[in-house]
Amino acid sequence: MPALRSPLAIEAPRGQRLRVSPQGTQAFTAGTVAAKECFASLASGEGVRIGLLGDTGSGKSYAAHLLTGHYLAACRGLVAVADSKGDGGWPGDVRESVSALADDPPTGREIVFIPDPFGEPLDLESVARWQWALAARRCRSLVVYDEISDGCAEGEWLRGSRDLPRVFTHGRRVGISAIWGAQFAQQVPREPYECSSCLLVWRQAGNALAILRRRGYTDPRSEAAILALPGDAVPPEQRGAFVLLRRGRPWDGRTYRF
Ligand SMILES: Nc1ncnc2c1ncn2[C@@H]1O[C@H](COP(=O)(O)OP(=O)(O)O)[C@@H](O)[C@H]1O
Ligand SMILES: [Mg+2]
Repeated sequence: MPALRSPLAIEAPRGQRLRVSPQGTQAFTAGTVAAKECFASLASGEGVRIGLLGDTGSGKSYAAHLLTGHYLAACRGLVAVADSKGDGGWPGDVRESVSALADDPPTGREIVFIPDPFGEPLDLESVARWQWALAARRCRSLVVYDEISDGCAEGEWLRGSRDLPRVFTHGRRVGISAIWGAQFAQQVPREPYECSSCLLVWRQAGNALAILRRRGYTDPRSEAAILALPGDAVPPEQRGAFVLLRRGRPWDGRTYRF
């Protein structure tokens, strides 16, 4: 993860911070404004669920890094990242699995689960079970399920999943927070869509837009905005433009970028 570039910041009317896009054509609202919105309910002790949807290379993990920073600053909970590919460059104590934590407890508030590339894949259900066990001890946590598709197939949870869906359906009241990332909208089961407070969406087309509309997130205006996002057509350091959607609520008309 490269150091954040210093943004070209200008002060916009009504005090909203805007940035000029790398192309100099479009003004972005600072991603921190979206982050504040995403974590608003933490203040009342609830957990949050945030979805990140976009093609590979669009900026989901980059955004997730910054969102976890907001969480760490906003509350005293633990942050864990399910980094199944092991390429995220996340800070924290690295463990191969949840069971490895028992022999080697973490030293700080950040934990990264990276499986042995030649061993068993990371079991997201076991990560969710661990998150529920923390909640039972009144310990708040945020898990980044960086690739939620590792726990599901074609819109259904893997057989035997119980605690992972419950993170979404029952986690809010007990202080369980989750950030889930996905490349393909159709791979994600119903619960993350129906129970997420905020969805950050990078460029998407076709089927994904139809799914977002069916799930109550988009309208024709926001669909047009999602289609107009640059996605991976620009060099990596210029990527990251996204919209913030909330289910059943009108689009705020903004394009964000961290
Ligand atoms: N807002 C941003 N500012 C600068 N670089 C970004 C931004 N968003 C994404 N990138 C860069 O784009 C590349 C792909 O981002 P990444 O988060 O890994 O994508 P994804 O997780 O969607 O596959 C990385 O090199 C990342 O540093
Ligand atoms: Mg990623």
